Amino acid sequence: MAVPLLEVANLNKSFGGLKATSNVSFNVARDEIVGLIGPNGAGKTTLLRQITGIIKPDSGKIRFKGQDITRRKVWDIVNMGIAGTFQNMRPFRRLPIIANVMVSCLSPRSMKTGEWVKRIEAKAMDALEFAGISDMALEKASTLSQGDLKRLEVARAIATEPELLLLDEPFGGLSPAETDLMAKSIKRLHKGGRFGRLHSEGPAMIIIEHKLQALMKIVDRVIVLNYGEVVAECSPEAVVKHPAVIECYLGKGDI
Ligand SMILES: Nc1ncnc2c1ncn2[C@@H]1O[C@H](COP(=O)(O)OP(=O)(O)OP(=O)(O)O)[C@@H](O)[C@H]1O
Ligand SMILES: [Mg+2]
Repeated sequence: MAVPLLEVANLNKSFGGLKATSNVSFNVARDEIVGLIGPNGAGKTTLLRQITGIIKPDSGKIRFKGQDITRRKVWDIVNMGIAGTFQNMRPFRRLPIIANVMVSCLSPRSMKTGEWVKRIEAKAMDALEFAGISDMALEKASTLSQGDLKRLEVARAIATEPELLLLDEPFGGLSPAETDLMAKSIKRLHKGGRFGRLHSEGPAMIIIEHKLQALMKIVDRVIVLNYGEVVAECSPEAVVKHPAVIECYLGKGDI
């Protein structure tokens, strides 16, 4: 049997006395989009931050393409093929939008020998076009709205040509129409397209979202976290009826 693209085994992370991630285990296959849901404070962002290497788990293992990445540096993890967007967006605000993406294109994973500024610029433009903000490429990033900042984050992540893309609330702050557009872009990216240069298919994905209806339309499988623990793993169709899901959202009005 093929090795799963991502293997997370018994991951634990505490902040003081608080268990933000408690014995979390799951796999992601190469062709999957996995939804990661759960109430506020469930540990979703903390889990993604451990996969990207930004924070290190207290115990447990993370394997990517069969290799242990648990203690690797963020930079190495990006070069192996994992990229993400973050709940707290931090662009280089004084730089033009296109320069924000060109920085990602400079990663050794993305840049091949002999590829110089023109080609990097073209690639950054491709990523911006994909994200739908290429017409603003030369404006300063500080001029972007919340929704467009999200798009910039997506462009920066895909410019590294990831095999696993982690998205933390890609629909957050977007209008219903913008959400729909973003969902379509995500699906198109997953099916492979312009960003399939290193790999013929698009990246596998883990997507955190509170907008469950929009999320369920694009995911193959859902993992539900509550108080740091995986409380359910099911199909998008089964999620609204799942007792553990109903219980953890009960009274919070989110579902
Ligand atoms: N750096 C940190 N230091 C201390 N506590 C933290 C830190 N990061 C997260 N936490 C705590 O860990 C728990 C999980 O937080 P996390 O941000 O992972 O939740 P989440 O599921 O992403 O929530 P949301 O849906 O609101 O984004 C919360 O109780 C949070 O306050
Ligand atoms: Mg979060």
